[in-house]
Amino acid sequence: MKLFLDTADLQAIKQWSKTGILDGVTTNPTLMSKAGGDPSEGVQEIARMMGAGDVSVEVTTTDPADVYQQAKRIAALADNIVVKIPCHTSYYAVIKQLVSEGVQINVTLVFSVMQGLAMNKLGAKYISPFIGRLDDINQDGIGLVQQLCMMRDQYAFKTQVLAASIRNREHLNQVILCAADVATVPVTLLEESLQHDLTDKGMERFLDDWAKLGVQQFP
Ligand code: E4P
Repeated sequence: MKLFLDTADLQAIKQWSKTGILDGVTTNPTLMSKAGGDPSEGVQEIARMMGAGDVSVEVTTTDPADVYQQAKRIAALADNIVVKIPCHTSYYAVIKQLVSEGVQINVTLVFSVMQGLAMNKLGAKYISPFIGRLDDINQDGIGLVQQLCMMRDQYAFKTQVLAASIRNREHLNQVILCAADVATVPVTLLEESLQHDLTDKGMERFLDDWAKLGVQQFP
């Protein structure tokens, strides 16, 4: 299973890329706007820091012809860029064309199994179901990820399920257990989900007990 960082914050990406647990990064226009700076330079810096890891970058135009052109320009920023395109019927032909030209696509804002099926047919590399945003309208975000994973397994589809809009530890646990291909995790949630009080207390106790031995050097 791949773990992506859901941010455009260069400092956070730099810090977490050193840990060796990151397989990629997802951004969106909101996250890029928060990060500030020149977006093309920012994307290239993120792509460089991630090495071979996929970096998702979303289009910011709406007209299908413009989306196509912008997607090509975004993809040309670095070899490991995956272009994010919203899951809207207006863009189906564009997605199909881009896939045929070798552009890697992450179809974002996926909210139904049928949308997921359609994107498998178009050859998207990833589909991104948004868990938190479904929960926001009292629908079952985790349930959708589970259904998309069932569909992937049932038909041996190649499009990977990238669980997005993960807001809490329970979301994260559930997407890991239902065998999503990728979880993209906000920085604060990644930090808190990797920390455990008993790990910290255990380290302290072991060191206190060791100190009682009074050994100067070991080994
Ligand atoms: C990532 O690909 C998504 O854009 C992101 O997870 C959306 O999260 P949000 O619904 O919390 O804004």
